Amino acid sequence: MRLGATLPSTTTKVNMDIEPGSSIPRKRVNSTSTADAEERQAKRLRVTGESNSKERSNATKQQKGPEITKGILTRAAHPPIQTSRSVYTYERLNQIEEGSYGVVFRAKDKQTGDIVALKRLKLDEEKYGFPITALREIHSLMQCRHENVVRIREVVVGDTLTQVFIVMDFIEHDLKTLLSLMPNPFLQSEIKTLTLQLLRAVAHCHSHWILHRDLKTSNLLMNNRGIIKVADFGLARRFGDPVEILLGVETYSTPIDIWSVGCIFGELILHEPVFQAKNELEMIGMIFRLLGPPTVEEWPEYESLPLVKTLNMPAPHAPTLRQKFSYLTSSGLNLMASLLAYDPERRISAEEALKHLYFQESPLPKHPDLFPSFPSLAAGEKRRKPFASPSAPERAKAKEEYDYV
Ligand SMILES: Nc1ncnc2c1ncn2[C@@H]1O[C@H](COP(=O)(O)OP(=O)(O)OP(=O)(O)O)[C@@H](O)[C@H]1O
Ligand SMILES: [Mg+2]
Repeated sequence: MRLGATLPSTTTKVNMDIEPGSSIPRKRVNSTSTADAEERQAKRLRVTGESNSKERSNATKQQKGPEITKGILTRAAHPPIQTSRSVYTYERLNQIEEGSYGVVFRAKDKQTGDIVALKRLKLDEEKYGFPITALREIHSLMQCRHENVVRIREVVVGDTLTQVFIVMDFIEHDLKTLLSLMPNPFLQSEIKTLTLQLLRAVAHCHSHWILHRDLKTSNLLMNNRGIIKVADFGLARRFGDPVEILLGVETYSTPIDIWSVGCIFGELILHEPVFQAKNELEMIGMIFRLLGPPTVEEWPEYESLPLVKTLNMPAPHAPTLRQKFSYLTSSGLNLMASLLAYDPERRISAEEALKHLYFQESPLPKHPDLFPSFPSLAAGEKRRKPFASPSAPERAKAKEEYDYV
């Protein structure tokens, strides 16, 4: 991907600094003739396809290999790299969130009217070229296409080398914000549906040799049709050494995502994070309190871990999982304990967890279509104020009392 090589050299910063709702200044869009604009557009490298069928069919044509016309190799001989569209194809609507790797905007495709999310990658301070985190995010999103993974539409570019945006489907909620705004926790049947969807996404990523490594409620999006979409693959990476991949051996690394699934499952039930610690030491203490300090029987490698020697281990005690999740059925508790197993080798896999008894017992997972919808903070929707119910008139009350006399 040679993004830099063909971008215009202007340093003017305009693209996402425009006011919400306003259209892009005409001067920028029409500053050159149509022919020039087309030429400039053609020069931009397109990083990912799938934005429209015409482009898809072009891409397929290119992938078929070189076309030979009268013995001369045509442009189809080039690798399947297409020009990137401009960010000006989209009209900015509002900023959703600013995270560590980028700013996320809600925007509208001016041609189709589709509402999308644009994640502007933070490249301003990059000294060593295009950051690996951004490449990983784009690559992983493209590799892990699935109903429960946010769909990447394309990558678009602005006027300078530091203006690169990932265009994704816009999803109404992230689970963290939603949990903080919902008046009541999710029902057990809803928690089952959400956890199943998360496990399906994780199983899919793991089967494509991708680890997410940052699964948490703020990185889980949910639409108003009860569907979860895993997002933020900024820390994702391909795992396993090539020789292990060739031999089909599963490496140790997938269990880190499963631990996170356990924490998310717990957060959905408790309506707050399972471990809310200020630092790592406090977090370790909380984990030991919930699960009981690890023993060599349940985690043989545990004593040889570098940090263990530096810890003052608490006296052995029973787990407090049952007290913490007092309303969970015993199979629910078993699933939680399997997701949060100390020994990564013994931790349940996403594939196994999908078949767990907890999902087959009553109440059964709720169909996503039956999920309630919530106002979307990201789309600027506000919760409607409930009508103030009129209080009963004093006189009527007095009459009621009177009637009984
Ligand atoms: N496709 C999307 N549709 C709607 N909102 C989105 C979308 N993608 C991201 N967001 C919102 O933007 C937030 C930040 O996105 P993301 O996690 O991808 O960025 P980040 O910079 O990696 O964040 P952080 O470092 O905080 O994890 C999400 O928590 C979510 O609220
Ligand atoms: Mg995030």
